[in-house]
Amino acid sequence: MLLDAKAFQYSIDDFVDRYKGKDIHAVAGFEARGFIFGAPLALALKCAFVPLRKPGKLPGETVGASYQLEYGEDRIEMHTGAVKEGQNVLLIDDLIATGGTLAAGVKLVEQVGAKVIECAVVIELKDLNGKAKLGGLPLYVQVQKE
Ligand code: PRP
Repeated sequence: MLLDAKAFQYSIDDFVDRYKGKDIHAVAGFEARGFIFGAPLALALKCAFVPLRKPGKLPGETVGASYQLEYGEDRIEMHTGAVKEGQNVLLIDDLIATGGTLAAGVKLVEQVGAKVIECAVVIELKDLNGKAKLGGLPLYVQVQKE
């Protein structure tokens, strides 16, 4: 998809149409492919882009949230102060599978007193029912796959 400028543009335009005028203060994208979709969306919405990264990658002070994998645990981090109390945040990634990554993002944003207004992905692997981990938050999906 990323090799096809028309398809990539179509995906970004669809996200922009959905979120323009929605009072979003920050688009937070997950390492690594969430950056690819989140950054152009944040630019189009004229809001902040906040990278959510794997442990130890961000310089400076961070806040983090851990989540369970099938075997073991993983963690995501964001810069302290990147998202402020009371702000509206859109979480974006390329894909939701088990939902662990997005759920950790929700935990992280809520931990600093901000609000996740929606989670957005290009692809949902529907059979894994990752949506169930989002605590009832809306999930916007461009393409569903069994
Ligand atoms: C993939 C994908 C999502 C996550 C979804 O990333 O890009 O971020 O898995 O899985 P989940 O819903 O089961 O949590 P990956 O962990 O492969 O990291 P990468 O993008 O840095 O390669």
